[in-house]
Amino acid sequence: MDDETLKLGTRAGLPEELMFLARQHPRGNWRGQPGLAGTGEFWLANHDYFRGMIQRIAGSLSALRESGETGFDSGPALQRHINGLLGGLDGHHRVEDHHYFPAFQRAEPRLLRGFEILDADHHLIHDSIDKLAATTRDSLQRLGQAEGVMTSDQRFAVDALAAVVDRFAPLLRQHLADEEDLVIPLILERARQDPEFS
Ligand SMILES: [Fe+2]
Ligand SMILES: [Fe+2]
Repeated sequence: MDDETLKLGTRAGLPEELMFLARQHPRGNWRGQPGLAGTGEFWLANHDYFRGMIQRIAGSLSALRESGETGFDSGPALQRHINGLLGGLDGHHRVEDHHYFPAFQRAEPRLLRGFEILDADHHLIHDSIDKLAATTRDSLQRLGQAEGVMTSDQRFAVDALAAVVDRFAPLLRQHLADEEDLVIPLILERARQDPEFS
């Protein structure tokens, strides 16, 4: 597969040649493994938090669109959740780029290509984060803090934000899943060889 077909938003999973450890340690066997205690569990919990937040944000936007009504805290709550998600992702990617990915590449050089793919994902996700942050500012300003049936401009503002979130969510989910397929089997395999690794 070339760079274009491996791009986030185009690919459906990592290429088979990068899945040799994932075949030894399939996803269904991960949870509760002693080799994941510490770094692995903490890191999966971060990913679960991001998945939960994007689902919650998309759910709040769907509820607003379906009811056609906004509440006093609808806008501020969306702002808090989106800030939490985007701030968390920014910090998480920084740690991955500067600490985890270099260490994992040293531990398993055969997966270098996989970490290059994930690094490219981070750049693409950060462009999407900028778009999402800008649309959030604009849409939530238009939504305001009123209560009751939304005006047409408030509905358009919510639609615009929902459209950006709907484009962002599958990119984020795919990235998290592929990253886990690369990293969790690597941690489990290293922990099997050296119980001190994790
Ligand atoms: Fe990542
Ligand atoms: Fe991650």
